[in-house]
Amino acid sequence: MSRYQAAEWDERYQSSGHNLASPREFLVEVLPQLPREGWGLDVAMGEGHNANLLAEHGPQVLGVDFSLVALRKAKSMYPNVQSALVNLPQIHLKPGCFDVILNFWFLDREMFPLYPQYLKPGGYLVLETMRFDPDSDQSHLRLEYLLQSGELLQSFSGWEILVYDENVKANAKGKQQLAVRMLARKP
Ligand SMILES: C[S@@+](CC[C@H](N)C(=O)[O-])C[C@H]1O[C@@H](n2cnc3c(N)ncnc32)[C@H](O)[C@@H]1O
Repeated sequence: MSRYQAAEWDERYQSSGHNLASPREFLVEVLPQLPREGWGLDVAMGEGHNANLLAEHGPQVLGVDFSLVALRKAKSMYPNVQSALVNLPQIHLKPGCFDVILNFWFLDREMFPLYPQYLKPGGYLVLETMRFDPDSDQSHLRLEYLLQSGELLQSFSGWEILVYDENVKANAKGKQQLAVRMLARKP
């Protein structure tokens, strides 16, 4: 199943059908609040635009994704970003070694308990992804890939929530999608 999905993503990246040529707006917005040293992890990094922006800010960055095509593109554009081919959530990293985790436009709830394990105390999680929208037709999307209202706040209760907005209208695949943005700090 996931090998099939990885092949699908490879195809999208090959055909340039998923080409966002720049970092996500939300990352640009919160970047000044993020540490300028240490290590960052970009989960499902795609072509590496977000990982690179973070790396330019200061930290060393490891980006993981299951699309080899995306990782190759990332490597050629951003040799400063380290990368690993990983089928999430099957990821095995040393606990407590990251200062920042980026999770943009990817949702696997099995990753949520890993974030506090991988982050150092005081480490930052920057997350943006789609939310269930009762007012629009999302039949082309799988429900499991959509956050529910309030879900992130519940999953990361006890964290310091620095930014939270669950009513963002973001452009995805040429459509306006309801998205959630959160910048949170591990206690
Ligand atoms: C919508 S793209 C987002 C890419 C990037 N984070 C961004 O914000 O532009 C989703 C990414 O998740 C990756 N992905 C999906 N399922 C994955 C899995 N099980 N393991 C690793 N990567 C996965 C895809 O290859 C793709 O690069």
